Amino acid sequence: MSQSKRFAILAERDINKETFVEPWPEAGLIVTDSPYDPKPNLRLDGDSKQVIELDGKQRSDFDALDSFIADHAIDTSVAEQAMAMPSLEYARMLTDINAPARSIRRLIVGCTPAKLCEIVSHMNVLEMMMGLAKMRVRRTPANQAHVTNKREHPALLAADAAEAVLRGFSEVETTVGVARFAPLNALAILVGSQTGQGGVLTQCSVEESLGLRIALKGLTSYAETLSVYGTERSFVDGDDTPWSKAFLAAAYASRGVKIRFTSGAGSEALMGHAEGCSMLYLEARCLMITRGAGSQGVQNGSISCIALPESLPGGVRAVLAENMLASLLGLEVASGNDALASHSAIRKSAKLMLQFIPGTDFIFSGYSAVPRRDNLFGGGNFDVEDYDDYNVLQRDMQIDGGVRPITEAQALDIRRQGAKAIQAVYAELGLPPISDEEVEAAVTGHASEDMPLRDVVSDLSAADAFLSGGQTVLDVVNALQRRGFSATAGNILEMGRQRVIGDYLQPAAIFTTTPIDQPAGGAANSNNKSAPRFHVLSAINDVNDYTGPGSGYRVKGERWQEMQRLPQVKSPRDFLADQTGGASPRLVELGPAEASKYPEVIVAVGPAFGSALNRTINGVEHEKVLEAILTGVAKEGLTARIVKVYQSSDCAYIGYIGSQLSGAGISIGLQSRGTTVIHKRGLARLNNLELFPQSPSLTLEIYEAIGRNAARYAKGEPVKPVPVQVDNWARLRLIVKTALLHRRETDEVRDKPPVEMFFNWEPDV
Ligand code: 5AD
Ligand code: CA
Repeated sequence: MSQSKRFAILAERDINKETFVEPWPEAGLIVTDSPYDPKPNLRLDGDSKQVIELDGKQRSDFDALDSFIADHAIDTSVAEQAMAMPSLEYARMLTDINAPARSIRRLIVGCTPAKLCEIVSHMNVLEMMMGLAKMRVRRTPANQAHVTNKREHPALLAADAAEAVLRGFSEVETTVGVARFAPLNALAILVGSQTGQGGVLTQCSVEESLGLRIALKGLTSYAETLSVYGTERSFVDGDDTPWSKAFLAAAYASRGVKIRFTSGAGSEALMGHAEGCSMLYLEARCLMITRGAGSQGVQNGSISCIALPESLPGGVRAVLAENMLASLLGLEVASGNDALASHSAIRKSAKLMLQFIPGTDFIFSGYSAVPRRDNLFGGGNFDVEDYDDYNVLQRDMQIDGGVRPITEAQALDIRRQGAKAIQAVYAELGLPPISDEEVEAAVTGHASEDMPLRDVVSDLSAADAFLSGGQTVLDVVNALQRRGFSATAGNILEMGRQRVIGDYLQPAAIFTTTPIDQPAGGAANSNNKSAPRFHVLSAINDVNDYTGPGSGYRVKGERWQEMQRLPQVKSPRDFLADQTGGASPRLVELGPAEASKYPEVIVAVGPAFGSALNRTINGVEHEKVLEAILTGVAKEGLTARIVKVYQSSDCAYIGYIGSQLSGAGISIGLQSRGTTVIHKRGLARLNNLELFPQSPSLTLEIYEAIGRNAARYAKGEPVKPVPVQVDNWARLRLIVKTALLHRRETDEVRDKPPVEMFFNWEPDV
């Protein structure tokens, strides 16, 4: 227990649920610069140009990874030049807008893993973000979503996938709680993801041969979890070698399936095989293997291991470094932010900025498009419950994070289409039926708990039969067509056609779509309504051409408009609607206000008071405010005169003018929005007796007390200031209304002296 109340409260904060440890290189618990990391060096055989020494190791001592890197990853045609250039020079080029990406990349591919780490060692996070913004291969940033649920409910999977696509994700992936569900889960997100605009790539992350079988049935279009590791022994534990991974990648690609390897800080330490090396050095080896194996890209940024680097000093920086290194090597990067990384909303958001601000090919390699508790990837650092926050971040910074705001009506509609489509497919393919009740639950539900239970045993045996049977994606297309889901059928067929074309195997490829009711080529093609148009956007035809301010991807045009259309955005013009209802018949102008000699209180009101505006910011009628103040003054046995100040809308100035007119030198200055001051003649304009700057907390009781105090000042009696509640959130909540009320009052400012007002104290009823 802390003695200090402050430390006790700090101990309860979310950040203190995390584990923080000191580095321990021998256990691999160090993110960069382990004393056991090798120093960069490279020697080529003079004749054969074969690598004979790599980062301090002779060819005869190479392990499997060294051999693969030496023979398949290092571009020996530039290696000598690349290694001769100082690492600091690379670091400087990465932050220099005048150094083109291609000139950096031409040499980077001749560097060794230790050299890559040495380059990073010169860079802070801001410089790495600049490097990533420039070196990311695709110009347009995008995002990837996870769609899974604990109950593995097909209607919920389809509905969530459909919503994820509408929300803007370019890839949607699922996985399983029970492995046998894989083919049905892949089917559900395929159907869901091709509902509506379609054109989104999908995968089902499972054991690799099962993943390949599902892909061969045409149910998935990418495979991402081809894991690679930075030490030989971790690889062997995973039953693999760099060559077997390269072979698997080729197997997928030969069938038109986009592949991406997965690696990232911490996996080797978790497997007990870090060999004393830093996480970044081991990741540099992984990335070179990834490139050497011909993978177009990588999912990295620690991924499932993220909590491990985050327990260490510099962990978040090192994770950014590995994202940047991937982009240096020309690999598409899906940059993590998927698995739970922090309890703290501050920490998780701060970490996100390192990828969000520069932009990556997929800012999340799995934004949880389902509630965190339904995320079977162990993921959900950001989830569905953070959607509104995320959309606001995009709007705040004018940064494209790959997501768009949608309305509830749009969500319900697309979810219903997705759930009904999978219901139809299940019925046509003879899978265990999905009832109308299940469809409706999936439309309106949030999580697994909202779904009726299914018979898991029959679902699983249907899954087995579906996997081993002859049905393929073409049967799915036919089923949808027969049941009238022709747009979804068309989208799925088009995904299959794209697979044969193979353009989406290019680095960083995603699809953009032309809406079906707006075919490419305009009206001339409008008879061709049924042909969906998916356009590949990749590092080949959407090259990142960032070269500093004004270049590269910019959020503008329709995309910027879309990002601004949050359903919760209001028109500022509506804010004053409840503040006026015509001028008060009880408050009339008499004529020019004169100074008096009487010990009275002047109530000086702003130029819009009781006329252009007739309520304070929290809706209290101006007439009631006057009644309360006059009552307070009267209770002290004095009278008050009301004057309207036209020269200014400033509270201090209004009070100052009023005090000049009072025989006692005391005034109450009152802005239409309710802000009040008690002023005394002779005080400087911005000085005062009492100030009530928080108009939203001013009640009629407080206005009466203000009247009383003003009268007591006028009588020269001792006065205890009126206590007011301080609500620090009021300004935050009401600042727009405050600005607009002030603007309205300022519109009424005239170059004319104060006017005496008559207030009808007892209105006709
Ligand atoms: N290194 C290698 N593979 C990883 N995966 C997740 N994190 C890493 C990592 N740091 C892979 C695993 C996991 C899938 C979600 O991604 O295969 O099952
Ligand atoms: Ca992923």
